[in-house]
Amino acid sequence: MAAVSFRQVHKAFGDTVTIPSLDLDIADGEFVSLLGPSGCGKTTTLRMLAGLEQPTRGTIEIGGREVQTLPPAQRDIAMVFQSYALYPHLSVAENIVYPLRKRGVPKQQWPALLQQVVQLLQLEPLLARKPKQLSGGQQQRVALGRALIRNPKVFLLDEPLSNLDAKLRAHMRAELIELHQRIGTTTVYVTHDQLEAMTMSTRIAVMNGGVLQQFAAPDEIYYRPANLFVAGFIGTPAMSLADATLIRADDGFVVSAGGLSLRLPAAALSLHAPREVVLGLRPEDVVLGAGPWHARVKVVEPTGHESIVLLDCGGVALVARVASDLPLAAELRAGDDVPFDVSLSRAHVFARDSGARLNRDEANVTALRRTRDAA
Ligand SMILES: Nc1ncnc2c1ncn2[C@@H]1O[C@H](COP(=O)(O)OP(=O)(O)OP(=O)(O)O)[C@@H](O)[C@H]1O
Ligand SMILES: [Mg+2]
Repeated sequence: MAAVSFRQVHKAFGDTVTIPSLDLDIADGEFVSLLGPSGCGKTTTLRMLAGLEQPTRGTIEIGGREVQTLPPAQRDIAMVFQSYALYPHLSVAENIVYPLRKRGVPKQQWPALLQQVVQLLQLEPLLARKPKQLSGGQQQRVALGRALIRNPKVFLLDEPLSNLDAKLRAHMRAELIELHQRIGTTTVYVTHDQLEAMTMSTRIAVMNGGVLQQFAAPDEIYYRPANLFVAGFIGTPAMSLADATLIRADDGFVVSAGGLSLRLPAAALSLHAPREVVLGLRPEDVVLGAGPWHARVKVVEPTGHESIVLLDCGGVALVARVASDLPLAAELRAGDDVPFDVSLSRAHVFARDSGARLNRDEANVTALRRTRDAA
């Protein structure tokens, strides 16, 4: 096992800069996801760690050793690709021990090593089969087995579950979490699926345009997004974001957007908060049925255990969740006028120009008074 560090890593392909400057410190034994939209540089980052791509500048360390000039074979890493890359003419067992052959591990050691991996991944009944006789999830386990048998210091996985159907993905997600809990190997996992990142990771590195936006635990990313990009990217349905004006009041701030006007205590926001802000509310923090504000229902989307409700509050688009077992869920119709409340301590405020978060999260935000809306 080993820690991993990127220090001022810059990567350009020709004239095109993909990663301007990346600093990232992954602790020994962590499960870190690189999460971000297509083209943000996740795979490039992983390939530089694996040695399949050279950084243009900067250093990469694995276990305290600089590796950026070493070939992949000398980095003590194992990578699992989206395509699994199994050898079709070899059996499952032969696929798994392949890295041992390649590395010159004496043949008499193979059965014991194979047995460990087979037990861990429950591959016993499949050992004699060829890859094409396996389901996607089984192929995935074989690819993992082939990586595991090398007992690497670091595991690198690039969207390993993206070829699987939703049910199998959920299953493999749980298996990967359990596997990591058992073996504790430092893991770097590339995904653009936020659910995967949220459920599996000790920390998530959110990237956009080659720039690290936030590197923090899943809860932190969800409840305290560092900027507008992270706020909008994480969460389904997405956080409602509305341009708002911020005015300093006697004992705090008033944030106004359309038919919404929220009074926040002085301790809630940075004292340097500008006038032009963006107000962010997560769907679960817009509570329909009672409260000082009103909105018009535009669309009701039943999803099973809850309905997602799209609202218009004096020109501001909001999204709310309503649990299906509430009478309100059955009553709501498009065009209805519905009162609602807001969890003020969970209102997010961002600077409109820089996108930076303005909430002072360390402050104990208790005062939850608000002004009645104008709408
Ligand atoms: N070999 C290459 N030559 C030129 N440009 C490249 C090369 N590899 C990647 N890029 C560019 O670098 C950027 C980042 O690509 P990368 O594959 O790292 O994105 P990603 O975050 O993994 O995206 P996805 O989610 O689509 O897999 C993209 O704009 C891509 O076109
Ligand atoms: Mg990729």
